[in-house]
Amino acid sequence: MKDLLGLKDVSGQEIRRILDEAFRLKKEVLEGSKKDSCLSGKSVITLFYENSTRTRLSFELASKYLGATAANIAASGSSVAKGETLIDTAKTIDRMAADIVIIRHSASGAPHLISRYTKAAVVNAGDGMHEHPTQALLDLMTMQEKKGRIEGLRVAIVGDVKHSRVARSNIYGLHKMGAEVVLAGPSTLMPADLEAMGVKTYCDVDRAVYGADVVMGLRIQLERQKKGLFPTVREYHKFFGIDERRLKLAAPDAIVMHPGPVNRGVELSADVIDGPQSVICDQVTNGVCIRMAVLKMLAER
Ligand code: CP
Repeated sequence: MKDLLGLKDVSGQEIRRILDEAFRLKKEVLEGSKKDSCLSGKSVITLFYENSTRTRLSFELASKYLGATAANIAASGSSVAKGETLIDTAKTIDRMAADIVIIRHSASGAPHLISRYTKAAVVNAGDGMHEHPTQALLDLMTMQEKKGRIEGLRVAIVGDVKHSRVARSNIYGLHKMGAEVVLAGPSTLMPADLEAMGVKTYCDVDRAVYGADVVMGLRIQLERQKKGLFPTVREYHKFFGIDERRLKLAAPDAIVMHPGPVNRGVELSADVIDGPQSVICDQVTNGVCIRMAVLKMLAER
């Protein structure tokens, strides 16, 4: 594999290999004191055209933990702000002999375009409404860690599915690993092509959450909704938000996930976010491990 552009074209076997490596790196590098310098002499560039806290920081830390030289370009401080195109940016980076380029962009397909103009391995850190593969991988890792398996789990993904690259990558990844995926949210935030992806969709969140092993809230992406949110934020929480009452409909040992950042009191109530079933902080930690594993795998190609 030259790049990691999405989970659509990654096999279940490759996903398993990344998860195994991430668990090993978690134990040895993050929790243990063992050094792994597999990226020594390699350069990793993070190119973020959209805001990020978790993804950007965890890629930068993962690069440094494995001994790489890491550099960052933010759109506002780069020549993009002077009108430079994505293709010219890719060619410029290529001439600096970067080994791995990590890109987040509001346009779906931007990482695929960059990949055509650089010899570096390209990692999609979230492209528009398309895919966010490392987020889905860290979600899979967290499910494996907390539930002991992925196969056979019933995963309810609730929220703004239409604008969610996280949902799309999770659907690909979960299906490849043998889990069942059900989706719920307002019909205004549900894309038309999902039934074709083999997922059951509900407008009634209670029905989707019923018996679920994993309840995953998705952020309402107000920045991608130019005409405002329909339903309103208050209506959303009442009819689609996960609160303690709704969580009781899930399996008694269900876990609650969210990719972050969370709109507190909208997608999830505060008591659910901070409650005993929430694994949101574990997702953040596992993000560093998955990104170490992905960088290592791409460096060894
Ligand atoms: N989940 C996620 O992509 O978070 P950031 O936007 O903070 O990177």
